[in-house]
Amino acid sequence: MTSTAPYHAMFSGAIGKDYEMLKLLSPLAVEMSRLVGVTVSEFPKPPGQTLHVVELGGGTGITTLSILAAREALHVLSIDNEPVMQNQAKQNLQVWQQQGKLAFCGDDALTALQALPSASVDVVASAYTLHNFPNTYRQQVIAEIFRVLVLGGLFVNGDRYALDDVDLHTRTTQAEVSGYFRILVAANKLDLLEHWIVHLFSDESANHIMRETLALEDLAAVGFTSICLSQRCQVNALVTAHKPH
Ligand SMILES: C[S@@+](CC[C@H](N)C(=O)[O-])C[C@H]1O[C@@H](n2cnc3c(N)ncnc32)[C@H](O)[C@@H]1O
Repeated sequence: MTSTAPYHAMFSGAIGKDYEMLKLLSPLAVEMSRLVGVTVSEFPKPPGQTLHVVELGGGTGITTLSILAAREALHVLSIDNEPVMQNQAKQNLQVWQQQGKLAFCGDDALTALQALPSASVDVVASAYTLHNFPNTYRQQVIAEIFRVLVLGGLFVNGDRYALDDVDLHTRTTQAEVSGYFRILVAANKLDLLEHWIVHLFSDESANHIMRETLALEDLAAVGFTSICLSQRCQVNALVTAHKPH
């Protein structure tokens, strides 16, 4: 961590209300962003050398900040094709942008990756973005991630990885929906409740759902090795994979 502020205080300061609401609604999503940052911090690179990170789906900057906190010498290119989200990140994280540690790209993930040279990025990091992609688009993105990584480079993604056990996955998701109702009805945020439920239908649809075993097979198919799914908590998990040396 580059800040002496406690982790959550640092986020509350920079990301404000968004972070507080996400912590309430989806504490596991907040934890996954933290774990993505920790994983980036463990990437072996000599201290003085700049670590080049590409982030897919930066959103309002919660995961971006976690990555920025990972190490002093780094540069993050944060990609998000939704200006409403990315503009908040630009606002929240302008200090890092001014320091030259952070740049933004407003293209979609596939277009942005296609524009990058091969073997030019140490780490591609993401949280809660790839599960939004249609399966065929996601497979193309994964192939591009592999191409842009240096030999030994790392892909890390904290995301919704659907359980292979479909019944258990459904029950877990139902419990998640109950939680949204409990929290958002009490907070009288029915518009947000509608948004989350509508979005969930997309996440769970057959052409989007990122089922654990298939997702890991997709990584292996393009050449990734040391593929590891860890930190599973309900439908959330952390996936890491390396481009071989
Ligand atoms: C759920 S948010 C996650 C934000 C942040 N990583 C976090 O965990 O708080 C997903 C983000 O991915 C972005 N996104 C979705 N599809 C995308 C695509 N094809 N290319 C780039 N960004 C995309 C959305 O605009 C959104 O900001």
